[in-house]
Amino acid sequence: MTMASDLPHPRVPGEAARLPITMLNPDFPFSYDHYLAHPAGLGRVPDLKLGTEVAVVGAGLSGVIAAYELLRLGLKPIVYEAARIGGRLKTAEFSAAPGVVADLGGMRFPESGKAFYHYVDTVGLETREFPNPLSAVTPSTLIELEGTAHYAETADDLPPFFTEVAEAWRRALREEVDFDAVQEALRSRDVATIKRIWNRIVAELDEQTFYGFIAGSAAFREKSFAHREAFGQVGFGTGGWDTDFSNSILEILRVVFTDADDKHRRILGGAQRLPDGLWSHAPDDLVHWPKGTSVAGLNGGVPRGAVASIKRGEGGGIRITEKWGATREFEAAIVTCQSWLLSARIDTEETLFAPEMWTAIERSHYMQSSKTFVMVDRPFWNDIDPATGRHVLSMTLTDRLPRATYLLDDGPDKPAVILLSYTWNDDALKFLSLSADERTDLMLHSLKKIYPTVDIASHIVGEPITVSWEADPNFMGAFKNNLPGHYRYQERLFGHFVQHELPAAQRGVFLAGDDISFTAGWAEGAVTTALNAVWGTVRHLGGESAPGNPGPGDVWDELAPVVLD
Ligand code: ARG
Repeated sequence: MTMASDLPHPRVPGEAARLPITMLNPDFPFSYDHYLAHPAGLGRVPDLKLGTEVAVVGAGLSGVIAAYELLRLGLKPIVYEAARIGGRLKTAEFSAAPGVVADLGGMRFPESGKAFYHYVDTVGLETREFPNPLSAVTPSTLIELEGTAHYAETADDLPPFFTEVAEAWRRALREEVDFDAVQEALRSRDVATIKRIWNRIVAELDEQTFYGFIAGSAAFREKSFAHREAFGQVGFGTGGWDTDFSNSILEILRVVFTDADDKHRRILGGAQRLPDGLWSHAPDDLVHWPKGTSVAGLNGGVPRGAVASIKRGEGGGIRITEKWGATREFEAAIVTCQSWLLSARIDTEETLFAPEMWTAIERSHYMQSSKTFVMVDRPFWNDIDPATGRHVLSMTLTDRLPRATYLLDDGPDKPAVILLSYTWNDDALKFLSLSADERTDLMLHSLKKIYPTVDIASHIVGEPITVSWEADPNFMGAFKNNLPGHYRYQERLFGHFVQHELPAAQRGVFLAGDDISFTAGWAEGAVTTALNAVWGTVRHLGGESAPGNPGPGDVWDELAPVVLD
C-alpha cells in the first residue's frame, strides 16, 4: 500500500485538517516516516567500521528491521533467535490447507502506522482492510450484552444507547484532554503544541487508571453505570477495552490520539510475511556490501541460536554466548527480545545497565492474550437467513467467554477462517490451561447461545489453532502495557538509546522492540525503537546521520519525552 506519508507541513490555516493522522508519538514526536523516506538515508559509519559485526538479539519485527538497516549502512548484523523469525508477527498455517493462515500475534495494522507501512511497501506486500466491528468491509456486527443482541450493518443501526456511550467517550476526550487540539497538532506535526499539551497530560494523569479517567469525567458521570459498563464492552475502535481498565490512561490516550485503533489493514498471506520478507530482502541502495546482499545472506541463511548470556567482553565490547556455547564479542548489540528475558532467561551482566534501568525493565507490565482459530469450508456468514433477512453470522462482540469473534475470508467458494475468540488479561487467563479442542468447544457453546439456529461446528474443517502468549517462555505475555505511575520507567527505557552521557560500562547495548516503545501492542513501536537503536549504534561506532536528515538522537534535546521528578 502506498500512502501519502511525506506531505509537506501546512502553510495556510485550515489546511491541517486534510493532513493524515499518523502515529507521531506525543512523548517523542519525531517523524520516523519522513526520516525513512529521506533520499539521503539514515547516515554513515567511518570507512574503517564498514563490515563491523553488530549483534541483534531477537528476530521479531524490531530485530529484523534493525538488522536490515544495519546492512544498508554497511554493517554486518549477526542475528540471534531462540525460536522462529517473526516474533509476535507469527503466522500459523492450517495443516490441512497450507495457505489458509491464522495471525497469532499482530494481525491488524493501523494506516496511521506510517513507519510500519514503509517496510510493508519495501517488501511489496499486499494488504486488505481488516474486518473490525462496524468497519466498512465488515458485512455485519452483532453486539450481545447480558443476553440481548443488537445486529448492525452500520453504527446507525444500533439503539441510541450505544450512540450515547460513544458520545460520552468523545466528550470526555474533548473536555478532559483537549482531544481536538492534540489531533490537529499531530496532523500538522506541530511539535511545540503537541509537547505543550501532552507534557501537561503526562504530569496530571500518569497515576490515573483508564477506569478512573472514565468514572471521573463529567461526560460519564452524567450517564448511568450501564454506560460505563457498555463502554468497557464495546469501547472504541476495535471493541471492548475493559481488560485495560486498570492500566494507565496515558496508554489509552496515545492510542486514540494517533488513531492506532482505527482503519486497520491485514497482510495478505499473514503478518509474518513482513519479517520473513525483510530477512531475505536485498536493498537496492547498499553501502559496502555487493549488490544482492541480504540479512539472510550475511547470516548464512539462518539466525544464530538462543542467547544464554550477555556480558562485557575482554575487548571492552559486548560478549554474547549462545545456549550451545558459541561465543562472540561485538562492539555493539541491539537487544530486541522481551525485556524480562534479560533477567529471567539470559544471564545478563548487571553492570551493563544502571540500577534504575533494571527497575524499569522489571516493572514492565505485560498483557496476556489468547486467540483460537478454526478453518471452515467456506465463508458461510455471507449467507442471508431468509427468515430475518440478516447475515447468518456476524462479527461479534459479547460479554460471554469469546469476547470478540472475527470472520476472515479471501473470497467465496474457498476455505475461510473464524477467529472464534480474541481476548486479553482475565479473559485470556480463563483459557490458559485448556487445549485447542477444549477452547473451541467453549467458544462454540457460547456462540450457540447467541446464534441458536446456526450450526457453526458443521462447517469446521481441519484442526483448531490456538495461542496463549503468556505460556511461551520467550514472551511471557502478549505486549507491554504501563500501569499507573509507570511513566518514569517507560521514559528510561525509551531514552536509553541516547548513551553519550552514560558511564562507559553502560554503553553498547541498545534496547528495542515493542516493550521499549510508548505504544506497546502496535508494531509501529517495534519499528521506531529499532530505528532508535540503529541510530545509537551508528553513533557508538563513531558514525553520524546523513546531512539534512537528522535522526532521533540528533533531535533529542528538542523532542525528548518529559522527565518527571
Ligand atoms: N494492537 C493490538 C490489537 O489490535 C493489541 C491492542 C490491544 N492493546 C491493549 N492495550 N489492550 O489487537
